[in-house]
Amino acid sequence: MKLAYDEFGSGARTLVLLHGFPLGRAMWTEVARDLGTSARVIVPDLRGHGGSPSPAGPYTMDALADDVLELADHCGLTQPFDLGGLSMGGYVALAFAAVHPQRLSSLILCDTRATADTAEAAAGRETLAAKVESSDSVEPVVEAFLPKLLALSAYDEKPDLVAKVRAMMAQQPATGVAGCLRAMARRADHSGLLKTLDFPILALVGEADRITPPDDARAMSASARRGTLEVIDGAGHLTSLEAPAATADAIRRFLQSIS
Ligand code: MLT
Repeated sequence: MKLAYDEFGSGARTLVLLHGFPLGRAMWTEVARDLGTSARVIVPDLRGHGGSPSPAGPYTMDALADDVLELADHCGLTQPFDLGGLSMGGYVALAFAAVHPQRLSSLILCDTRATADTAEAAAGRETLAAKVESSDSVEPVVEAFLPKLLALSAYDEKPDLVAKVRAMMAQQPATGVAGCLRAMARRADHSGLLKTLDFPILALVGEADRITPPDDARAMSASARRGTLEVIDGAGHLTSLEAPAATADAIRRFLQSIS
């Protein structure tokens, strides 16, 4: 599937950044601009989001990863590239790494986890997907996710950011949102994968992330052969939006350390 994408900057390395659910590529814009001063940065809308196609679901993480492979080929990435993903973007990055490790020079896993959903969490997502489908509206997802996405303090202190995140969610198509909920519910457990990968892996997390807390990032960096951990002060689950400069600095430090 042909994905819509933005491209920033140039440099010896190419970094592809995958967004979280249900937000779209704009969540990476500030970080990508910053990193674009020293790298080529490609930021797609995943299937079911923004300017990319939203066919009827359910989707699978493998299908979303195949879309990223097609994008990499379309962008001429013949050399191994750096692949980053935030939350659902991290699930897609892990699905990609499981099948195409030879295409990658590093993995950057932001506010995500390598484990699958518990049975309870998966059932909750299936119920939510059914609500989105029956109402043909993403509002049930906005209601369920918006209160958890940012650091608690942001809801009082950063009303503009809360409104921006709400607007990003509200503009996603209902078919795509339901398709991705089902893909997340059915995703594989990749916790055993990280120790098999021999390229560097960065686990980055907001210290106040309540969806994929710092312990998930610690577990990923500890199980990787060449793992690094970065905890972003004061940020919740959406580090790229809550602390874009610190997030870009951490990613840049990591990329410089492996160059
Ligand atoms: C995301 O930010 O992509 C989602 O919160 C991921 C999830 O619900 O597991």
